[in-house]
Amino acid sequence: MNKLTIKDLALKGKKLIIRADFNVPLDDKLNITDDRRITEALATIQYALKQGVLKVILMSHLGRPDGQVVESMRLTPVAKRLEKLLGEKVLKLDECVGDAVKQAIAKSTQRVILLENLRFHKEEEKNNPEFAKQLASLADIYVNDAFGTAHRAHASTEGITKYLPSVAGLLIEKEIQYLGQAVNNPKRPLVVILGGAKVSDKIKLIENLLKRADAILIGGGMAYTFLKAQGKNIGNSKLEADKVETAKNLLEKAKQVKVEIVLTTDFCIVKKFDAPETLKIVKDIPDGWESLDIGPETRKRFKEVLAKAKTVVWNGPVGVFEIDAYAQGTRDVAEFLAGLKGVTTIVGGGDSAAAVSKFHLDDKMTHISTGGGASLEFLEGKELPGIAALNEKKQSVKV
Ligand code: 3PG
Repeated sequence: MNKLTIKDLALKGKKLIIRADFNVPLDDKLNITDDRRITEALATIQYALKQGVLKVILMSHLGRPDGQVVESMRLTPVAKRLEKLLGEKVLKLDECVGDAVKQAIAKSTQRVILLENLRFHKEEEKNNPEFAKQLASLADIYVNDAFGTAHRAHASTEGITKYLPSVAGLLIEKEIQYLGQAVNNPKRPLVVILGGAKVSDKIKLIENLLKRADAILIGGGMAYTFLKAQGKNIGNSKLEADKVETAKNLLEKAKQVKVEIVLTTDFCIVKKFDAPETLKIVKDIPDGWESLDIGPETRKRFKEVLAKAKTVVWNGPVGVFEIDAYAQGTRDVAEFLAGLKGVTTIVGGGDSAAAVSKFHLDDKMTHISTGGGASLEFLEGKELPGIAALNEKKQSVKV
């Protein structure tokens, strides 16, 4: 990576403000249901503490409170989980800027402090310079480790870099290393599995991958628009009618650049979404039926292609994996990837990461990204503003 990282600066005796992405899922009782974003943030925090920093001041958003204080979106459950994982007390504040915050930091005997949800202030998402300056005034060095939010140009991800020496944390470094290598310099063949509901979300991604991948396997809701473009009957399956032409063009382009696109050839269809008892497997979808998962023939074909891969990038489930009756295709893909030896397997964040977790295969993948939207934008070839704003390796930075 061409950006300075936390390892490039002398940290002893300094106050660090670290932007993490603690936007974790919570249940009704505010229990954290998946803490991977917290566990993945530990490396940077522990490294900083080991270097003898004076304070680690952590900040994050949680949910989309839209500039209001929303009680259920406080970061208190995150502070508790962090304490457990770090094995040391975390001082959780009820604000993120202001004199009271400054005083609390100055008086605190704890080394680790967590500020309140940044998005309780509308200035955060507006990238307000005054708000960014207030955050910056709490510390000597800014560390961005929030890969999941790096695609947002907000005060805590972009604005703040104008006021402090700004470096990447170890999670951002790791994400860029794995995702960057997979698309820019992969061990070949590079096979990409794409799924998820909408083609419209993945057009830029496919355009970028056609320049890089050797084969693309397409399942999930987005596949039916491609099948429609090939003139197939898709019954009541998900269709983006205004993207059929785009899908046709992408298939044509793939032919020109000789990237194999493998589409679904058999289907798990039902009469209605909530009628799994009607499920049957067919090659042609009759009118009035809807497909919710890839069938066994498609799974077999996907595995044949995957068996030849040296690098696999997976973005989007190939069926409605949240419902057990429609999860077999996604489970098969996850299990097959988990069993591959000597292959780099990269799982984009969001739904595919949730699928891998559901099947308890997290530790069988080479890398699972903590970014949903961020990993998608990175794989599209976009520059992420939260990373672009950090100091370059070649810059000498005074702290
Ligand atoms: C995410 O969960 O993708 C990140 O935390 C960013 O959240 P946002 O989409 O609300 O900006």
